[in-house]
Amino acid sequence: MIPPDFIDDVLARTDIVEIIEPRVALKRTGQNYTGLCPFHTEKSPSFSVSQDKQFYYCFGCQASGSALKFLMEFDRMDFLAAVELLAGRVGLTVPEDRQSGSDESARRRKTIYEILDQAAAVYREELRGHESRDRAVTYLKGRGMSGAVARDFSLGYAPPGWTNLYDKLAQSNYERDLLIESGMVVENAEENKTYDRFRDRIMFPIRDLRGRTIAFGGRVLGDSKPKYLNSPETPVFHKGRELYGLYEARQRNKNLTRLMVVEGYMDVVALAQFGINYAVATLGTATREEHIERLYRLVSQIIFCFDGDPPGTAAAWKALQVVLPFMSDGRSAKFLFVPDGEDPDTLVRKEGREKFELRLDQATALDVFFFSHLAQDLDTSSMEGKAALSKLAIPLINLIPEGVFKQLMIDELATRTGLDAEKLLKVARETKPAVAGRPRDVPVRNDGNTGISLSRRAEAPLAMLARQPELALELDDASYQLLSQVDDCSLLAEIALAVRQHELLSPGLLLGYFHGKPEAKLIRSLIEKEQLLDVSALREEYIDSMNRLLHGLEFQLKQALNYPLFQKPFSELTAEERRQINDLPRKKT
Ligand code: CTP
Ligand code: MN
Repeated sequence: MIPPDFIDDVLARTDIVEIIEPRVALKRTGQNYTGLCPFHTEKSPSFSVSQDKQFYYCFGCQASGSALKFLMEFDRMDFLAAVELLAGRVGLTVPEDRQSGSDESARRRKTIYEILDQAAAVYREELRGHESRDRAVTYLKGRGMSGAVARDFSLGYAPPGWTNLYDKLAQSNYERDLLIESGMVVENAEENKTYDRFRDRIMFPIRDLRGRTIAFGGRVLGDSKPKYLNSPETPVFHKGRELYGLYEARQRNKNLTRLMVVEGYMDVVALAQFGINYAVATLGTATREEHIERLYRLVSQIIFCFDGDPPGTAAAWKALQVVLPFMSDGRSAKFLFVPDGEDPDTLVRKEGREKFELRLDQATALDVFFFSHLAQDLDTSSMEGKAALSKLAIPLINLIPEGVFKQLMIDELATRTGLDAEKLLKVARETKPAVAGRPRDVPVRNDGNTGISLSRRAEAPLAMLARQPELALELDDASYQLLSQVDDCSLLAEIALAVRQHELLSPGLLLGYFHGKPEAKLIRSLIEKEQLLDVSALREEYIDSMNRLLHGLEFQLKQALNYPLFQKPFSELTAEERRQINDLPRKKT
């Protein structure tokens, strides 16, 4: 016996479409997905999958059931194996002792939802009745928020004080533990003290698609820091997957056709107040695959909304790279850049719904953003620039699934570079499996052109950095400063530090920054000669090669100096210790 609660929980976190789609070709038709029934022979589709109900049904043969039943029938799995497979996908483990009442962990997960719902109710109540509610209400009114939208999003208020929630909900040790596990209460084990995580904040409950509260975001009423505080990762909350406002958007509109991704809680709520009820926000993280996957299951059009400033553009570029592999025909992605100093919240309040939606309709198409971003700061009238453009573009275009859209992108590249589309396509096909022209295999070459010499160990990461400067963000300043002490790595370090300091997050910005200097020439030549690296593998490659580099360095430094700090492996040094090493007077190695 597997506890029923556990199965409930697994099914709640499973999307039946994700289970069936790889096994049966499905097409979206309105609210449902349909396809040819796998359980009887048929020519026209009568098999239907409802995402809403998490249920499949065949109008022909009446086969029906949950994701679990589907696996048992289609994959002919036994019950336990099917539960294990589903549980594994969502990061749960089937309770070990399935015989006895050891359904403890499932029971707890269940009750985490309950305690979070209770917390949401407490916060809502405090917004209505707490003695310091006026401040919260004044704040919300000051931001132009209507009572109706506050209610729709179940906004609440966590009053000042360390144990409001704790006192209300921790009736026994059992609830106390739940409050800690759900992240609502913080435990200081050393002092054996517990206190409310959220104090004197406007509370935004984050809900899953079923409407259960799974976490909170809390905003200060004034300007103190941190402005927003979010629940930590818990058994029911995985920040990188959730989208704030998705439940509410679906509640308000069952026939969503498009979804807009914005950055903030307030943006989502303000847009909804003005009738734009299809906005969702990532929770202080970059857009990730999981988000995109989720969104395209619900709609075929996504609009990303970002600030028009350099960090906003960089974030948009990141989102573009994440979205490319999902761009099968029939889907679209657009980018809306809001004017300087505005965000969707302020903009929609200023302009109202119609003007804002006009901006959405006129948002930048993915292909336009793609080429303008890549071509930025490249002189695409020169042969050199054209070559650089195609080398940057092809591996990215390769991420797009085969189809009309991919072909259009290749045609566009052909137009822009004057290169033959057929040839580009051929290059694209050939480079596809080149899972990174492994940097180790890139021949070393001291660039006679620029007079700069690079060792083999520094060239590989530098080449990757040239291609995708934001990789510089993967390590901290102290590491690069350490590198800058070493002759053959100093250039790599210099460039990485410049990227970090000036946010040179695209090859264009990087080239622009070093314009007219030998570095620019080198960077350009690295971009051009670089084997067409698979961009999706770049990050790991970079981290790998930098680790190798730093590891080698550690050895070098240990030899150079007999200093206690160097007795520790580099990876165990704190940032402060790295800084100390860095500040030591010493000869360059
Ligand atoms: N965020 C966060 N933690 C922070 C700051 C921001 O999680 N310390 C997330 C929140 O989801 C926030 C979003 O990033 O809504 C955008 O942050 P920001 O642009 O700073 O704020 P706004 O959404 O504009 O917030 P507000 O309008 O309330 O000032
Ligand atoms: Mn804002």
